[in-house]
Amino acid sequence: MSTKMVALSFTLFACACSNGPSAVGDGASGSGPLASSGSAGISQVGGAASGSAAGGASSSLGGASMAGAGGPGGTASGAGTSAGGAGSAGGASNAGSTGVAGGTSGTSGAGGGSVIDATCGGTNGTATNLKDKYAGCFPIGAAVDSQSYMTHGPILKAHFNSVVAENDMKFNALEPNEGSFTYTNADKIVDFASSNSMKVRGHTLVWHSQNPSWLFTGATKDTLIARMKNHIKNVVQHYKGKVYAWDVVNEAIMEDGSYRSGSGDEDKKSHWYEIIGPSYIAEAFRAAHEADPNAKLFYNDFYDYIPAKQQGIYTMLKGLLADGVPVHGVGMQCHLNIEPSTKTDNQGYYQSVENLEKAIVLYSSLGLEVQVTELDLSLYIPGVSYTKDTFYTAATFTDALELKQANRYQAFFELFRRHRNVITGVTFWGIADDNTWLSEFDSGRKDFPLLFDNNHQPKKAFDAVMNF
Ligand code: XIL
Repeated sequence: MSTKMVALSFTLFACACSNGPSAVGDGASGSGPLASSGSAGISQVGGAASGSAAGGASSSLGGASMAGAGGPGGTASGAGTSAGGAGSAGGASNAGSTGVAGGTSGTSGAGGGSVIDATCGGTNGTATNLKDKYAGCFPIGAAVDSQSYMTHGPILKAHFNSVVAENDMKFNALEPNEGSFTYTNADKIVDFASSNSMKVRGHTLVWHSQNPSWLFTGATKDTLIARMKNHIKNVVQHYKGKVYAWDVVNEAIMEDGSYRSGSGDEDKKSHWYEIIGPSYIAEAFRAAHEADPNAKLFYNDFYDYIPAKQQGIYTMLKGLLADGVPVHGVGMQCHLNIEPSTKTDNQGYYQSVENLEKAIVLYSSLGLEVQVTELDLSLYIPGVSYTKDTFYTAATFTDALELKQANRYQAFFELFRRHRNVITGVTFWGIADDNTWLSEFDSGRKDFPLLFDNNHQPKKAFDAVMNF
């Protein structure tokens, strides 16, 4: 029960992030959690802009280059400055370059190399499933649970060649009691993947959310580091040779580029940072590398399209690399929406292909690979208030809206394909619209964010990402 509550409360929070504060904060349903989630989202944006931008940025990251961005409220000028910084960091040559067709699968490595065309090498023109169509670009993944092979078996096997556990490899799932590891559900996912030649991403070792209550109880800095290291060692060794990439640290940076700290709402604050300080990040990567030197280690986060946030992530990663910390890639969650917010103080205001491209270029300029790790595309516009009577249903998810969603998917996939020299995976956060976290948080609020519909049939969005 308590686990479910934690999961639910995170969902509420995260949906506030993905869809914009008022998207979930409609309050119309009268449900306490829903309403408070909405307002939490609002205060997060506003509060971050004025609150932690100054203090957090300068103290946490040593006054690094993102400090001046001023948070989401910094709007256009902040964006311009950050983008310029990105360019000068070395990956700028990508932007706007017309590129040359790459005949291969983009093995040129990370480092912000030149943009290539969007044909996936032109090798799989006749393929009718995602994984074959994209074989020249990157693996196509889906977030699954331990039942997905039964509930969604045919489309999972036909279209995806990579999986990630949506919840079953999180800290509370794998170590619910100290020193007692429960691998049953996660092992089912890994076994299914290996018998179907699918890659497995591991998600996630260190995160502020979905942790067991014992973890932070009575913890000093030393005990928490010891608990973290023991968890990472046990889990990463258990999946050594089976999980090829780990999201080692998830969501450590705020929208203004500062570290997620120990202040603020309980569901958003990081007890890791609060108790250990920023060194928990380097400690986690080092422990994961020691446990499996062959695993690719990722830093994973959302809202990568916000200029101040991408600068904060960049600055943190640059520092880690300078210190010799084994980081190999950046995961961009990419919980996207049908259109950007029109409100300049909403995080979704920055949600454009252009801004996401800047993030790809910026991160890869550090020599890191990039993956899209949690892709979905909600019908709800960030910053818009939805009441119960405007929640989408199968009837109001019209052809026109389906087409609009398809077009936006197409634009983002065109971007991903053009950067296939640095993008090494694209994973959807779910398989089909009948099972998506975006519909979990309120019984009345259905979303339709994936490529396959409630009946597992391909949507217009599927056609759009297959059409190149
Ligand atoms: C979500 C799951 O999809 C939900 O089922 C769960 O209740 C909460 O977590 N960012 C992440 C993922 O990194 O782990 C989150 O997954 C979605 C946001």
